[in-house]
Amino acid sequence: MAQHTRDEVVNSMPRTGFFGHPKGLFTLMVTEFWERFSYYGMKAILVYYLYYSVKDGGFGLPDALAMQIVSIYGALIYMSGVIGGWLADRFIGTRKSIFYGAILIMIGHILLSLPNNFNLLLAALLFIILGTGLLKPNISSNVGELYHKNDPKVDAAFTLFVMSINLGAFISPLFVGWLQENVGFHAGFMVAAIGMFCGLVVYVLRAKPTLGLSGLDVPNPVTPEEKNKTIITVSIIVAIVAAYFGIGKATDSLSLASFMNVVSIVGIVLPFFYFINMFISKKATADEKARVGAYIPLFLAAVAFWSIQEQGSTVLATFADKNTQLNMGVLTNGAIDFKIPAAWFQSLNPLFIVTLAPVFAWLWVKLGRFNPPTVVKFSIALFLAALSYLIMVYPLTHGGHLMNPVWLVLSYLLVTMAELCLSPVGLATTTKLAPQAFTSQMMSVWFLANTVAQIVNAQLVNYYDSVEKYQYFSHIGLVTLAFAVVLFVISPFMKKFMRGIH
Ligand code: GLN
Ligand code: ALA
Repeated sequence: MAQHTRDEVVNSMPRTGFFGHPKGLFTLMVTEFWERFSYYGMKAILVYYLYYSVKDGGFGLPDALAMQIVSIYGALIYMSGVIGGWLADRFIGTRKSIFYGAILIMIGHILLSLPNNFNLLLAALLFIILGTGLLKPNISSNVGELYHKNDPKVDAAFTLFVMSINLGAFISPLFVGWLQENVGFHAGFMVAAIGMFCGLVVYVLRAKPTLGLSGLDVPNPVTPEEKNKTIITVSIIVAIVAAYFGIGKATDSLSLASFMNVVSIVGIVLPFFYFINMFISKKATADEKARVGAYIPLFLAAVAFWSIQEQGSTVLATFADKNTQLNMGVLTNGAIDFKIPAAWFQSLNPLFIVTLAPVFAWLWVKLGRFNPPTVVKFSIALFLAALSYLIMVYPLTHGGHLMNPVWLVLSYLLVTMAELCLSPVGLATTTKLAPQAFTSQMMSVWFLANTVAQIVNAQLVNYYDSVEKYQYFSHIGLVTLAFAVVLFVISPFMKKFMRGIH
């Protein structure tokens, strides 16, 4: 296939039309808005769907198992990006990946809107996982493809893109959560499916006229020499997966628990595999390898942060449902008669992101030469994340049976402030510390920090289930605080390894 230069691609599309940005940015933003709308809407009620009794429309699973499934699902969502990125990079390009991804996601949500059946649920999750792997990493890289390499507008484009992600994530739990409580789970999932359908329609109608040649080329196509090696590798992987399920089925040892263990092992090994590959590669220079070394503590810090952030839809979601006073009548002495849907708490993080992102962006500029370096920002993020759990200890040891929701709002606020210190700079630093030859792999590694975090969470939920709540929040908070301190202490040493990047 003919490869187009970046200039040809950039010049092939309408350059203005959306606040001085290419029209294609709007196309990608709206598509991603609807994709995240469907993802976070569904995720806002998933844990309830799993542990609510059958009578209440759920599956009646034990709380810990429900939270474990949500965590492993979340881990797989970002792990599958490795496959989606690879397929786009070497076989089909991003345009087709996004299109097929959106279709798979929509099918997944449609399956969820059908009556309860556990196997159907697992199949639905699998569709969403594969679809998201195809769509999510590729739509982000397509944003970058709309601009010349050093176009200063790229940063603003990604900021707008993150806003669309979070607008989608903010709005959907409001609808889905209300529908779940007032109509039922399947109505909520239906809304998620309709959302993805809207995104697909927008993408199909606007891709050709607004995205030009972007996403059509296969950036790094498999060469004829590599073909055999690729076929063999893929066949071996497929054979191992088939053998796992085949033997498991034949010996009757296939269980959700063993599957989740396998996912956990693969998810933890994967980033190490990437790191080792970069360290031994001849394509990376000594300086580049030193930078990869400096990236490892940042990666571990990101794992610790995303662990707490992602517990917002498992541990804190369960806490909101079971241990929080949601009856506005009680909270307002009868003035307001309304029950807050528990899923609405899922809207807090994206709401705070949308409202506070400009404040933080302004703050970093305002601080000028006092603007903390990346490592210190990561350390501040861990400190805030730790605080978001530690503040829960007070109401839990001084209050009654149900906690005032204000504490939960405060907890989400703190963790979101942490996210604003870590997530945008983390993305930027990932691209800066990446060896030239491994730019897209490094992006996969960044998302794998979230995967590893959710694998850790799949274990932590057992701990949550077995100790007193105040113990859980204080222990996890203190461990995270320790991480923050260690990172802060080693930050001057890391500077040396970053070789001019900060
Ligand atoms: N919450 C963000 C999203 O959904 C970021 C996820 C991440 O960086 N792992 O896009
Ligand atoms: N805050 C979550 C993600 O940015 C929804 O972006």
